[in-house]
Amino acid sequence: MPGRLKANAMDKRTIREIEVGGKRVLVRVDFNVPMDRDTGAVSDDSRIQAALPTVRYLLSQGARVALCSHLGRPKGKPDPGLSLEPVARRLQELLGRPVTLVREYVETPADAIWDAAGPGDVLMLENIRFHPQEERNEPGFAKTLSRLADVYVNDAFGTAHRAHASTEGVAHHLPAVAGFLMEQELTFLGSAMADPKRPLASVVGGAKVSDKLALLQHMLDRVDALLIGGGMAATFFKGRGHEIGASLVEETMVESARELETLAKAKGVTLLLPVDVVVAERFHAEAPARTVAVAEVPPGWTIMDIGPKTQSLFAGELSKCKTVVWNGPMGVFEMPRFSAGTRSVAESLAGADATTIVGGGSTAQAVHELGLTDRMTHVSTGGGASLELLEGKSLPGVEALMDRQRRGVKNTR
Ligand code: 3PG
Repeated sequence: MPGRLKANAMDKRTIREIEVGGKRVLVRVDFNVPMDRDTGAVSDDSRIQAALPTVRYLLSQGARVALCSHLGRPKGKPDPGLSLEPVARRLQELLGRPVTLVREYVETPADAIWDAAGPGDVLMLENIRFHPQEERNEPGFAKTLSRLADVYVNDAFGTAHRAHASTEGVAHHLPAVAGFLMEQELTFLGSAMADPKRPLASVVGGAKVSDKLALLQHMLDRVDALLIGGGMAATFFKGRGHEIGASLVEETMVESARELETLAKAKGVTLLLPVDVVVAERFHAEAPARTVAVAEVPPGWTIMDIGPKTQSLFAGELSKCKTVVWNGPMGVFEMPRFSAGTRSVAESLAGADATTIVGGGSTAQAVHELGLTDRMTHVSTGGGASLELLEGKSLPGVEALMDRQRRGVKNTR
């Protein structure tokens, strides 16, 4: 059974600590979900499901609820292909009560919007990024949004790293608290780094060192072991002077990779790199492939996955740990022949007697596809947001919420 973490890592007020009965509540959610191109329907509703506890709680307290989210990157213009209509439909099915899509909420007075809805209806504002003022975090737009409600709840952990009007600006105009998903994410991801049961290991993968450099540096100060896989391992191999064939290498990162290895030694952190890799003649799902030692990558071939010896090495290290934080696949997971390394790490974590935390969009997706989500302690709904939190950065969408120790509205301006 996965271990549990302390639940007190949050210093922001939550919906439990504010009166919402009879109030209008604006809830920022992250319903930026994958859509099926053929049917136009939601293809993975995990983020919608993850927001349900907050929505249900607010309704049970007698609040009137308006949800607000973005979908995709419409660049400040209405785009019918990025309408939240299919999302509202899915939410309605899950909630079992009417969800009304509000297409116009900037010019229309708030009372008219609420009066048009049935008494128990949940409102869903159309894609907030159809408005250019959203990403510019324009104060006037934030103020307009705030007029829709008496209380603001931020449950959009996945977008908390963005300082936008609906994630940050609006929190300065209303009593602003965290929803349950936000609380859960901050508790697990925060505690994992601040107060972990040891040994603590981090498994880091993905294509590029440059994407994960800040994470790796931050981790080195905290972990007992750092396990590195994925395409980014090639840059470390290059730093060790190995031939890496046609694998992607960030020349500008080779020195940083060397420094990380030196730093790990100096700090007494076990840094494990793959000892064998699966290579393919070219970057293609059906290309001829074989497993080789890391020093024997044939010229022109591409590293696609970690090899079986590395899988055992990583599994052995992870079996000793009490907390594991994983961000980034071990190989080209979307090609079945190069997914074994990622599957092996996922299975090691699923079977571990440890607190296991998965962050990052593609890693969460891999765990989900393997059917192992329920066997992890926590799988984050955030991609960029979980990465920034694990890098030790503060998130603007969280910072703007009311602090727990303060009474009353912190930041009405
Ligand atoms: C995500 O999916 O990571 C969030 O919804 C944020 O989306 P963005 O990167 O377009 O801001």
